[in-house]
Amino acid sequence: MADSNKYPAFFARFYDTIYDQVRDAKDHQYFMNRIFDTTGPILEIGVGTGRLFLDALNKGADIYGIDISPAMFEILKNKLPEKDHHRIEVQDICTFNLDQKFDLIIAPFRVFMHLLTVEDQFKALDRVFAHLNPDGSFIFDLFVPNLKMLHEGLDHVKDFEGEYSPGKKLTRYSSMQADPINQISHVTFKFVWDEDGLEKTEEWKTDLRFFFRYEIEHLIKQSKLKLVNIFGDFQEHELNKQSKEFIVVCKK
Ligand SMILES: C[S@@+](CC[C@H](N)C(=O)[O-])C[C@H]1O[C@@H](n2cnc3c(N)ncnc32)[C@H](O)[C@@H]1O
Repeated sequence: MADSNKYPAFFARFYDTIYDQVRDAKDHQYFMNRIFDTTGPILEIGVGTGRLFLDALNKGADIYGIDISPAMFEILKNKLPEKDHHRIEVQDICTFNLDQKFDLIIAPFRVFMHLLTVEDQFKALDRVFAHLNPDGSFIFDLFVPNLKMLHEGLDHVKDFEGEYSPGKKLTRYSSMQADPINQISHVTFKFVWDEDGLEKTEEWKTDLRFFFRYEIEHLIKQSKLKLVNIFGDFQEHELNKQSKEFIVVCKK
């Protein structure tokens, strides 16, 4: 697994400031509903800073989490009381090994798009299968490729502007060039923020694998999992021309 997959410390530091604002309204309720429809233990893969995990845990879910990025893990660990530290571990979706099985495994907010090769995608699906109880479910989401955006790319687009603490400004710019043959978006995130009266800047380059509908269907069909449905949004509407998300629901 490439190191460019591991979220750097500055990205982890500002993750909640940005994504509580730009992502939570879209998917939070959906994943809470799936979690509280489940009676047994739940695993969140790519648990990050606990955007969904913490709410679920605080509301009584028996939830566990793994993440490949030590910087994201440390932030979540610092938010958890010591009695719950055993619930989270630094592990890779392609190789993880836990000593229990789950009734629901989720990989919310494009975790699977960090898997650039078919080999890694199958390894991940295999590890998920091995950790599901009979009849357990695996749910993950991916973005539906926007062909116009992939063709044109993005050049230094300001996609967040706000304050990360009172009076301290944070701005993020995103750039993207797509490689259509390998179905990879090369993404650069540039952060600019106020720190001790100075303006600080950091950049992170990472790659995301984009998927098309039938590729997902074939991938799941070739794995040990069973495909239940691919929905087009977090209200579980069928896929249509306007769909921006693939919500992939699988069963053991
Ligand atoms: C966009 S964040 C989503 C975090 C959280 N699930 C949420 O919804 O806010 C993607 C997370 O996946 C993690 N990740 C990326 N590749 C991974 C891998 N191979 N195994 C486990 N986690 C991975 C990243 O470190 C990051 O924390």
